[in-house]
Amino acid sequence: MVEKIDHLGIAVKDLDEALKVWSDALGLELTGTEVVESDGVRVAFLQIGESRIELLEATSESSPVAKFIAKRGEGIHHLCVKVRDIDLAAAQVRERGLKTIDAAPRPGAHGARVMFVHPAATRGVLLELSQHE
Ligand code: CO
Repeated sequence: MVEKIDHLGIAVKDLDEALKVWSDALGLELTGTEVVESDGVRVAFLQIGESRIELLEATSESSPVAKFIAKRGEGIHHLCVKVRDIDLAAAQVRERGLKTIDAAPRPGAHGARVMFVHPAATRGVLLELSQHE
């Protein structure tokens, strides 16, 4: 059901400051920025080989990313794996009794359809399942 690591999400306090490190200093190619209102984040994607790094900045204090940073500080927030069929993946996850954050697949950044699996189900890693357009 899983094809590859799609991206690693990193929670940051200031997206522009983070881009100075990840894009300017480390030289990763910035492929786009976007505000995802439904998640309360502004994100930037950087290409790294076949995968990407997603920098996440909260757009409000009630954003899950703001809460994550308040509790744990900046750092790795989630792992995203690419799936061929998100509806099938969602059905399998439910069938196997894994606790999820989303009840069903929903729109994510860059037009992908995503669904988050709870860290309690994955030994402590917030897992994003993503199907691209
Ligand atoms: Co993500």
